[in-house]
Amino acid sequence: MCPGETGMMKSLRQKINRLPVHIAIVPDGNGRWAEKRGLPRLAGHQAGVKKMRSLVEYLNDLQIKYVTLYGFSTENWGRPREEIEGLFRILEERINQDVPKLHQKGVKVLHLGRLGELPNWLQKSIQHAEERTRDNAGLTLCLAFNYGGHVEIVDAVRRIVAEGIPPEKIDEKLFGEYLYTAGIPDVDLLIRTGDEWRLSNFLLWQTAYSEYYFTEVLWPDFTKEDMDKALIAFSHRERRFGAL
Ligand code: IPE
Ligand code: MG
Repeated sequence: MCPGETGMMKSLRQKINRLPVHIAIVPDGNGRWAEKRGLPRLAGHQAGVKKMRSLVEYLNDLQIKYVTLYGFSTENWGRPREEIEGLFRILEERINQDVPKLHQKGVKVLHLGRLGELPNWLQKSIQHAEERTRDNAGLTLCLAFNYGGHVEIVDAVRRIVAEGIPPEKIDEKLFGEYLYTAGIPDVDLLIRTGDEWRLSNFLLWQTAYSEYYFTEVLWPDFTKEDMDKALIAFSHRERRFGAL
């Protein structure tokens, strides 16, 4: 048993022979969760964002190395202004409240996306979280805020061209180093809640050989037990990466 491991985690480990190194999550269904309860959509975002910390702590305890959360996509700018504004406020509040606790547990925070297009106050709180947790050696929590897979690839191409890299030097390895996820291994398991079976422009390059896990559970209802189900499903998948 690993230090700090609970009975529940031990029993999960017995069922699982292989854990993912990098889990990407599309937390979908916040709006429907709220609508079902007759609440405003922002109440769904509030509930959804609030549950991130305990799940991240759980994955950190399981010694998962990387988790990437899709918090706000480059396409989410098409939502009503009040929803965007409210979501940003909720994200900022949760970062400020939860990062100190995650920091104590050794979690390292990284931002993926175009930071400069977010409001100043949100940029500051993300940057502060990154700086504060920079030297941590536990789980790396990547916050994809104002992230888009297409834009990420465009940004990488712009930097490669701006640096005058000769075409023959460009290969998959070099290209990967110009993505926001430079130095982070590709996604092993992608989880999407809310009964939608789409990638939605998330980590296009990094999910080339990911295993996908879709569930109808709405994100604010997603529990550690649901996470276990995803991890167990992953452990049963046979991964051949295109080989026989
Ligand atoms: C996902 O929940 C949260 C974000 C996009 C930030 P939605 O807001 O997409 O919820 P539904 O799909 O409308 O239920
Ligand atoms: Mg949705």
